[in-house]
Amino acid sequence: MDGLRPVSAPLDFSAWMRTQLGLVESGLSRWVRSDAPAGLGEAMRYAVLDGGKRLRPLLVLAARDAVGGQAEAALRAACAVELIHAYSLVHDDMPCMDNDVLRRGKPTVHVRFGQARALLAGDALQALAFELLTPEDGVPPAMQARLCRLLAQAAGADGMAGGQAIDLASVGRSLSEHELRHMHRLKTGALLQASVVMGAACGAPGPQAEQALAQYGAALGLAFQVVDDVLDVTQDSATLGKTAGKDAASDKPTYVSLMGLAAAQAHAEELRGQAHAALAASGLSDTRALAALADMVVRRSH
Ligand code: IPE
Ligand code: IPE
Ligand code: MG
Ligand code: MG
Ligand code: MG
Repeated sequence: MDGLRPVSAPLDFSAWMRTQLGLVESGLSRWVRSDAPAGLGEAMRYAVLDGGKRLRPLLVLAARDAVGGQAEAALRAACAVELIHAYSLVHDDMPCMDNDVLRRGKPTVHVRFGQARALLAGDALQALAFELLTPEDGVPPAMQARLCRLLAQAAGADGMAGGQAIDLASVGRSLSEHELRHMHRLKTGALLQASVVMGAACGAPGPQAEQALAQYGAALGLAFQVVDDVLDVTQDSATLGKTAGKDAASDKPTYVSLMGLAAAQAHAEELRGQAHAALAASGLSDTRALAALADMVVRRSH
């Protein structure tokens, strides 16, 4: 089958991005309401809207495009993943974790609203993510259940939360490459991979495509955090919209501290190659947006 894939025309990736980002922004703005009690809604909207690259939602939507899945389910999944991500950032920035004051070019949620409201905004965003995945109609129940399970696994103890626990327990230690890869796969890679797999779960890809997309997601997910580690040392705070140089200042083990800057950059490129190879082996006829997103992850400046 692989040799028979049609040669596709180049994608107008900017136009594709504009359309998808428009859908995601309006979905998030509609679903994250301002009327939660005692200022909670304001803190939730502050955490989610007006900033962020929306990489995870774009991956959901690109994977859905590749498999020809359901649009309503995919938009809900895209926004749900972004809500989990936004919640993870709110908590990641709190004084008990990374103690950061700048996020997406703005004061962090706890700086702006206080720690208690930041904590609760994160809690409420997490719950809202699962509410979005379980509408009363419009998405088949079995698909809803699968999407919930994929997101829960990626966000919980075997994914983001577990990885964050390892991250905090690793301050001041030097990890082996194996340990560092494990931490990165959990804290960041799991949610990125889940974004791809959830997009695919909005359709019915065959086993070959499903496996290839999972491999693509794994390579891209790890590449993403390797690049996050690189950008922490190569960019300034204004470009990043968050405090630069934070990893070394906090004595966190990173790919840069483990292997040096040039080798970390080369590793990210190697993972980009693995992501492209997985797409080529998928048997899917149109993976152009996924391919462009892999390039964007590795070659981004913030
Ligand atoms: C930053 O993620 C946090 C990590 C998981 C490393 P992003 O770089 O995707 O942050 P936003 O969403 O664009 O702000
Ligand atoms: C955070 O990793 C990963 C999350 C689960 C939020 P980092 O602590 O490296 O993220 P930044 O650099 O603060 O965005
Ligand atoms: Mg952190
Ligand atoms: Mg952090
Ligand atoms: Mg970082």
